[in-house]
Amino acid sequence: MTLESPPMHSTIDDQDTNTSPNASFDSVLSARLSRRSLLKGTMGLAAGTFFGGSLMACSDDESPAAAPLKTLKLDFTAVPKSLADVVTVPSGYTASVLYRLGDPISAGVAEYLNNGTDAGATYAQRAGDHHDGMQYFGLGSGGTYVPTASDRGLLVMNHEAITPLFLHVAGPTIVGGVRTVNDEVVKELNVHGVSIIEVSKTGSTVAYSRSSVYNRRITTNSEMLMAGPAAKTAAMITKYSVDGSRTRGTVNNCAHGYTPWGTYLTCEENYAGYFRRVTATDNPKRTQKELASFARNGVAGNGRELWATATATNPADTTFTRWNTEKLGTSADGSDDFRNVANTYGWVVEIDPFAATSTPKKRTAMGRFAHEGAWLGPVVAGKPLVWYQGDDSRNEYIYKYVSNANWDAADATRGLAAGDKYLDDGKLYVAKFAADGTGTWLLLAFGSNGITAGNTAYAFADQVDVLINVRLAADAAGATKMDRPEWGAVNPKNGEVYMTLTNNNSTLRTLASTDAANPRFYNDARTTGTAQRGNPNGHIIRWADGDNASTSFKWDIFLFGARATSDPTNINVSALTANNDFSSPDGLWFGSSGLLWIQTDDGAFTDVTNCMMLACVPGQVGDGGKKTITNTDGAATKAVETNVSAPMGDEKLRRFLVGPKDCEITGIAETPDRKAIFVNIQHPGEDTSAASFATGTFSSSWPGGGSTRPRSATIVITRNDGGEVGGGLV
Ligand code: FEO
Ligand code: CA
Ligand code: CA
Ligand code: CA
Repeated sequence: MTLESPPMHSTIDDQDTNTSPNASFDSVLSARLSRRSLLKGTMGLAAGTFFGGSLMACSDDESPAAAPLKTLKLDFTAVPKSLADVVTVPSGYTASVLYRLGDPISAGVAEYLNNGTDAGATYAQRAGDHHDGMQYFGLGSGGTYVPTASDRGLLVMNHEAITPLFLHVAGPTIVGGVRTVNDEVVKELNVHGVSIIEVSKTGSTVAYSRSSVYNRRITTNSEMLMAGPAAKTAAMITKYSVDGSRTRGTVNNCAHGYTPWGTYLTCEENYAGYFRRVTATDNPKRTQKELASFARNGVAGNGRELWATATATNPADTTFTRWNTEKLGTSADGSDDFRNVANTYGWVVEIDPFAATSTPKKRTAMGRFAHEGAWLGPVVAGKPLVWYQGDDSRNEYIYKYVSNANWDAADATRGLAAGDKYLDDGKLYVAKFAADGTGTWLLLAFGSNGITAGNTAYAFADQVDVLINVRLAADAAGATKMDRPEWGAVNPKNGEVYMTLTNNNSTLRTLASTDAANPRFYNDARTTGTAQRGNPNGHIIRWADGDNASTSFKWDIFLFGARATSDPTNINVSALTANNDFSSPDGLWFGSSGLLWIQTDDGAFTDVTNCMMLACVPGQVGDGGKKTITNTDGAATKAVETNVSAPMGDEKLRRFLVGPKDCEITGIAETPDRKAIFVNIQHPGEDTSAASFATGTFSSSWPGGGSTRPRSATIVITRNDGGEVGGGLV
């Protein structure tokens, strides 16, 4: 038996498959003129007035609740950057560990031993790994959703992925490329997915109940219903569900969303890499359209964790073989194998945390791609609902889904039935950013925007084909390639949308392909390791839709990640200081007061600091002005004019938390009284090598300390004086 190195997780969290010719700088420039004409024609205003703050619903005089922003203040002292293996929060705050990998969620499950010996089956009743997106739902005494309840709630969170080294006695057992210890695979299948746990708050003490009837794990084995236009279609047929109505499980659940009716949306991000599809043998059996779809979505390879290579004791048990998406059967429709199973992944999945026996639904109307999350826009009676979505890979796109039904507050208590109404029937759009600070939502509908049977890259058959192959439809429509869209967040005070663009490399964001919305190309000044070029520090873009159904918007760049010591003209464009410099923004979340929290998942600034979380008080789209950034690559230079926010300064942007070694900070939620926030610490110690592990040495031992294996965990942060976390209206 040999122990082979596990896959490099930090390098496979994004997959880059966009070879479309979209959005060169020239096309942005040429589009600029037509957008300007269109806006002038439809709105009666010249584009040049946008940054005077006089256009659309979010300007000073039209924003319904702009006034509170002026008195919202941060009231903590910034924490310094740190490489220590601890969680650091400002003085006057306490951070407590709440829910760690392996913690039991059922009274009958033993304490986690954290040495790899805990049986695989028990993980269906334990906390999963790699805690990520998270939402707090207030729980009323009758078991109903009470949005104002702070003393008792359901905390729902994703478990995106795993660090296999720490899950098993001596890392994963792999012999000749084959998983030979089935219990290890069972454990990994169970440790992915979603947790629902009941939490309570008494004073500043927050705890979770190990025996609540609401506690529940949803895993890669849980039954799911396919819902919306792609349900029960030929592309969803598998041996597990010959009518295409169901699938098993969810995987790589990254960020999330929620609905006005108290359900949770878990979003399937890098699902594609989990499936085994050896192209040399499978490609000859496939149609050209299938091959184009697989290539654009990255469905190829041995499977990230090699689950399909395990052999079940019972030949009828397809728990492992369902991760093989090769065409192996003889049926015409795929009802005797799992050739179509990857089509049942890559969706937004709705879960009702209040109904413990309910079956989650994959909402296919929202489209299939590497979903980071789905962020609800303003909820207005009589208007459509909107969810903004990002596709997290380099050079992928930003989307929005708009319901066809208008919001009726009577639906707020209908659970998944409300989901059937608003999430199964809507329009999907993709964003195109123009250089002048305007943008367009391009409709992704069969027959429009080049999405036709005559499209040369992919001959679309119908709208179901569009929804399954959203990336190809967005290519055809001419969307703008972005620097890896991660989380979005909607400002509760004015409806403006913020989205992190975590980073890009110099291969996929070249000097030549910089554009107004992705304007930087530079060399990050790492003091150790390999230089990182392209846009390694990332940025945060924001936009203002006129209303949920708008097909045009205005935008600017809110913040540029950078070292405070970097060139202030072309790299540290947002004038970050030692108190707030950051790199690779990922998590992004608005508290109900209007505080914006930024979390990082960084591999650039890590010579100086572990990943972090910052708090800020944002302004609004258009509060800054034009800025020309001059990029250089050797002797070549390119100047890019873009639109930037007003500088934040230490007063409005401060570092609140720094995490332990080799972690990512991702996922945040608050109790409605804003006196406790939940934050996820993902994969501390992830960069521990197999050789180091074998000697019992880990790069982090958080949270247990000593010589314990590190564990992803949810922490709770409260203020020692019982006040609101981070700041408030003063
Ligand atoms: Fe799972 Fe895009 O981070
Ligand atoms: Ca993320
Ligand atoms: Ca990330
Ligand atoms: Ca991660």
